[in-house]
Amino acid sequence: MFENVDRVPGDAILGLIQEFQADNNPNKVDLGVGVYRDEYGRTPILETVHEAEKTRLTEESTKTYIGSHGDPEFGDSIQRLVFGAASPVLAANRATATQAPGGTGALRLAGDFCRTQFPTTSIWLPTPTWPNHIGLFEAAGLPIKRYTYVDDNNQLDFAGMLADLKSIPAGDIVLLHACCHNPSGFDLNREQWQQVVDVVRDRGVLPLVDFAYQGFGNGLEDDAFGPRLVAESCDEALITQSCSKNFGLYRERIGCLIAVARDESAMTDVRSQLATTARGNYSNPPAHGGAIVSTILNSEELSARWRDEVSAMRSRINALRSDLVDALAPYGLEQQFGHIANQRGMFSYTGLNSDQVERLKNEYSIYMVASGRANVAGLRQDNLDYVAGAISDVVNG
Ligand code: LMR
Repeated sequence: MFENVDRVPGDAILGLIQEFQADNNPNKVDLGVGVYRDEYGRTPILETVHEAEKTRLTEESTKTYIGSHGDPEFGDSIQRLVFGAASPVLAANRATATQAPGGTGALRLAGDFCRTQFPTTSIWLPTPTWPNHIGLFEAAGLPIKRYTYVDDNNQLDFAGMLADLKSIPAGDIVLLHACCHNPSGFDLNREQWQQVVDVVRDRGVLPLVDFAYQGFGNGLEDDAFGPRLVAESCDEALITQSCSKNFGLYRERIGCLIAVARDESAMTDVRSQLATTARGNYSNPPAHGGAIVSTILNSEELSARWRDEVSAMRSRINALRSDLVDALAPYGLEQQFGHIANQRGMFSYTGLNSDQVERLKNEYSIYMVASGRANVAGLRQDNLDYVAGAISDVVNG
């Protein structure tokens, strides 16, 4: 049978990791996969994570199953982080958390749940979106439709977005990026969020908010504006959360699916189904990452230090955005690339086309996704000028 299996190309984002590792150029720059890097190009383990792991090592007393919803303490901590401790959604007890293997696992859980419960429903994804959204919702069997997000001039097309959202039939699902839009880096402001939520609620569309970068845009609280507005304004919503970036726990695979229902009784029904969906998929989520996160969030001291660590990562990324635009200025490119300073999160849609991206890789060993998406966190003070010069060469030369 295996002789009939077709070979397919590897994942366009994850494949860059191997390509970069195999490159011997000492000047190589990795602006590909979305992981945070420090000034030395490392992706360090956060100090608070180290400490929580030490505590865990001495205090952990069993490796038995944690159940399909995962650790309730983790789920409660994440809900307080996402909604805010004083949230009316939490007070009404209409939200439930299911620990999942990463934000990707949470998205797949949401996809499987929706496909089983609402078999005729389509999911609407922004154009552009994280390419794996397409792969994972296709794998879950949900028909995929698209709405406008970025226009041909590499600008947020809010009018186009709103017009498209107004055409979504009741009962379909719309995926919204909470903050730090991947791949573009263009986020909605508060007024725009309000308009989006009004349309989604009034049309009876189910919002699925992908919240993978809390703390990497404008701050842990500011970045939660969209998901909080959605949960407080709509009777029903799904929110997928990830601890990969803000806790630096990429390989521990820790995230969460939060389902918000009309009331406690409906929430309990949905919760029962989510356990079944998880059970048929991976049974129980991995425990280690969730234990680290809940140890941090339930310690006043550790959580204050963790907030500082997130803030330091965010400040570095935002400073690099302006630094790159400054480094491009001597080449007369500050206008063409000025948007990079205003985008948020790790990613920037630079506006470079796939030929230019290919040249950056082949001639300068600078790696980014073919769409022109750059992970700004991969820049360093000592390679900014090199990258700016290379960009100028492929744009002007
Ligand atoms: C990215 O977009 O680079 C990250 O979210 C990593 C991934 O899994 O694609």
